[in-house]
Amino acid sequence: MTGPATLFSGSPTTNGMPPPLTIIIFGASGDLTHRKLLPALFDQAVDGLLHPETRIVGVARSPKTHGEFREEILTSVQTFSRYSGKLDLFPEFEKRIFYHAMTFEDPNGYNALRTTLLSEDFRNPTKGNVLYYLATPPSYFVPIIRNLGAYGLSAINESETPGEKGFTRIIVEKPFGHDLASAQDLNREVLQVFRENQVFRIDHYLGKETVQNIVVFRLSNPVFGSLWSNVHVKSVHITVHEAVGVEGRGAYFEEAGILRDMVQNHLFQLMTLTAMEPPVAFEAQAIRDEKVKVLRSLRPIRTEDIPRILVRGQYTVGEVAGVPVPGYRNEPKIPPTSDTPTFARIKVEVQNWRWAGVPFYLTAGKRMSRRETSIRIVFKEFPFALFRLAGCPGTVPNELVIRIQPNEGISLRFGIKRPGGQLVIDPVEMDFSYQTAYHDKAPDAYERLLHDAIAGDSTLFARNDEVERSWTFIAPLLGDISRLSPLRFYTAGTDGPEEQDRINDPDTA
Ligand code: NDP
Ligand code: BG6
Repeated sequence: MTGPATLFSGSPTTNGMPPPLTIIIFGASGDLTHRKLLPALFDQAVDGLLHPETRIVGVARSPKTHGEFREEILTSVQTFSRYSGKLDLFPEFEKRIFYHAMTFEDPNGYNALRTTLLSEDFRNPTKGNVLYYLATPPSYFVPIIRNLGAYGLSAINESETPGEKGFTRIIVEKPFGHDLASAQDLNREVLQVFRENQVFRIDHYLGKETVQNIVVFRLSNPVFGSLWSNVHVKSVHITVHEAVGVEGRGAYFEEAGILRDMVQNHLFQLMTLTAMEPPVAFEAQAIRDEKVKVLRSLRPIRTEDIPRILVRGQYTVGEVAGVPVPGYRNEPKIPPTSDTPTFARIKVEVQNWRWAGVPFYLTAGKRMSRRETSIRIVFKEFPFALFRLAGCPGTVPNELVIRIQPNEGISLRFGIKRPGGQLVIDPVEMDFSYQTAYHDKAPDAYERLLHDAIAGDSTLFARNDEVERSWTFIAPLLGDISRLSPLRFYTAGTDGPEEQDRINDPDTA
């Protein structure tokens, strides 16, 4: 007989159960915590993927009681959770949530946190395991890390409970630095206090099901895996179009621009997963080794190459899905002469045995006509194009499109003979849709990433050398390059500046 559902009723067996722990979220009143982290933790709890003894402590500056914090979280869960229809389970979840008011500079705050973590109520049920999450403005990453070290919080259980050691881990949000030097500084600071295997650098694209599927699709299907090289592939197009603009983050975006905000991290992740060699084993170290090799193989950007390989754009006033939207320079906190790109297309070359000669086009843009993230692989035609030579209309290259979001799926384009007396080839598509095959809504990326960090699996997180390599590669595009690559304006709600096609090779586009 089954009783009423309870929050942890879906729990896997003890073997599959993640360990109990205390999760300390710095930046607990922030947008990320409310829109993503706490709804993700609730969803995990409903799915039975959070140990029942888990404690969650929110840390931020504004004074508030545990009760007030829990009420705020209820609203977040109502709005953003996959399980907003299961709010009857919230009372059990909220019992594990606490709030700790402090400023990130305050020594007393860290001492009080330490006392909490060492108290019997926390240490015993959680076996001393602690996961810190830095969901704060990036300027606080280093001060918090230093203070965690200075006040004995980075190795809290290792020193305090010999014989019963718990783990201590830290998740660092993006952006991980704003250039190579700052990323190196941040790596140095974090590795002075934590060991690399305790550090989880987030790129939420890695938590997306469809992004993980890039590797699975390639390496589990010989039909496609064996075509995955310059022998058969003509060009690769990685595109992240967003309909949204800067969403109230004008001050941040004006400093970052699309190259730092999207390309250095999310698009490079998509590129490395697409281009990497099969790892020797399906485990964190091996996979991350292969991704770093791709970054090492990128043809370095020389100043004289910039006009040929980069197009930068910025949106002007327009309409997205019928709704009027301001131009970038009219957004709050953006100077009227801003040179910050909200669109970029870069042509990159992976100079290795597998990919030499195949251009990779990386495109990211805000205020496009619609949201669409995809990887399009265009295949070469036969050297002897029989039907083209015979003047047959309609021959098109084969194309594989991995739709990352939305309408997640994979399609393959090929040509068939149109029925009838004339020889005409029509392009048609075979299409796989996640929505049709799996009806349930996939877990959010943050659910997967929190789950993996709790389990100690760093496969889906960026390693220190990976982050530094990506900054090294993109560095020549981050300074004042307005002369080499003048800003091209595009109307909001369109698909970017006309000039974007200028960098496509005519025979590989
Ligand atoms: P917010 O500005 O919304 O939140 C900042 C948080 O930090 C608040 O809880 C604030 O507390 C707290 N805080 C700020 N200064 C202090 C201080 N001196 N002492 C104590 N608490 C302080 O930031 P977001 O949630 O938007 O972003 C957090 C991180 O996540 C950033 O690194 C961002 O780049 C990253 N990120 C965010 C995304 C998003 O969609 N929001 C997406 C991807 C990454 P209080 O309110 O009490 O002042
Ligand atoms: C964030 C960027 O990392 O990713 C945002 O800072 C961007 O500017 C967001 O909108 C896109 O994420 P997603 O999951 O909506 O594609």
